Amino acid sequence: MLTKQTQIELSNEQVEEIIRWRRYLHQHPELSFQEHKTSAFLYETLLTFPNLEVTRPTATSVMAVLKGGHPGKVIGFRADIDALPIQEETGLPFASNYDGVMHACGHDGHTAILLGVAKVLSAQQEKIHGEIRFFFQHAEEQLPGGAREMVEAGVTDGVDYVFGLHLSSLTPVGQLTITPGAATSNSDMFHVTIKGKGGHSSQPENTVDPVVTSAQIITNLQTIVSRITSPKDELVVSVTTLQAGDAVNVIPEEVKIGASVRSFNQEVRKKAVEAIEQIIKGVTEANGCHYELNYTYGYDSVVNEPGASAIAMEAIRRKLGEEAVIEAEAIMGGEDFSAFSNIVPGSFVFVGACSPDNPSPAPHHHPKFMIDEDALVYGANMFLSIAEDLVLE
Ligand code: NI
Repeated sequence: MLTKQTQIELSNEQVEEIIRWRRYLHQHPELSFQEHKTSAFLYETLLTFPNLEVTRPTATSVMAVLKGGHPGKVIGFRADIDALPIQEETGLPFASNYDGVMHACGHDGHTAILLGVAKVLSAQQEKIHGEIRFFFQHAEEQLPGGAREMVEAGVTDGVDYVFGLHLSSLTPVGQLTITPGAATSNSDMFHVTIKGKGGHSSQPENTVDPVVTSAQIITNLQTIVSRITSPKDELVVSVTTLQAGDAVNVIPEEVKIGASVRSFNQEVRKKAVEAIEQIIKGVTEANGCHYELNYTYGYDSVVNEPGASAIAMEAIRRKLGEEAVIEAEAIMGGEDFSAFSNIVPGSFVFVGACSPDNPSPAPHHHPKFMIDEDALVYGANMFLSIAEDLVLE
């Protein structure tokens, strides 16, 4: 720990500016990998702050690097900047200007928070021991995800710790949560085509029926969770799409099945993948069908590193009070922050954003999704406090 700490307090003007940025971003949402205006806005705005080296690691991401006047640790703060293909129904005065695109996950808030933190810290350059990198990451909402591309572009080279946050519309504002160990799930999916031999429904003996085969596959897949992995293992295998023929008197040539697979542990994930293929292979063979399986590995589980998590918790408690942060259970959602935290010790914190006077908050990815803007102050203070503890004198 450094000898003398700078305590930063956000001024009213700084808070108002963060809210203004958030509302501007909310009005101008862009889909994953298409964040051209958003990244241009961030790039231009960051260039107006002192002491930053601003670059574009990929077409629609932005990184700002703040090198301190003294040697020390290198830390990274990450915000995701993309929106979703959802028609907004909040009725907010600053609702989306674009039809069918909405910041329905709070990434507008994440971006505004990090912009505010970059502005405040850039004015403290001479007091910084080490370096702070601000990652404005594109495409969190769409595989293969922007985080991986940024890491491949080298943004984490030499970084000692990385921190990220996510606003949470269902958690009361003022409450921050952190999950020790695995915090989000491995989020995979697969598509399989079962190929038989079509024909007349009245002559099944002349066909190889992919519908009956698919029904057996779907039923057998349920035994992965109930019979193949341990009851202590956390795993979901959900068949969610099914497309077969379109005439009742025709046995179709093929059936398409889609499914989502969620787990926390890499061993369980591997076991599930093997079992899925084994079941599909065995059942199709027994029925005389063939199959084509496409398994897509989605985002890895975000695993909070103990050292980085202790730093984050301590920083939150110091600035926001002992009660501000609690340990929470992992969620089955996916998050590509793992691309950073797989490489660098990292910690990911959920920041409550449910207004006390909202009795029925909408979940994330909902047309009525909303945040309480007080949450922006909590998020900004979390990053500032971590910076104070790790790199500010
Ligand atoms: Ni999100």
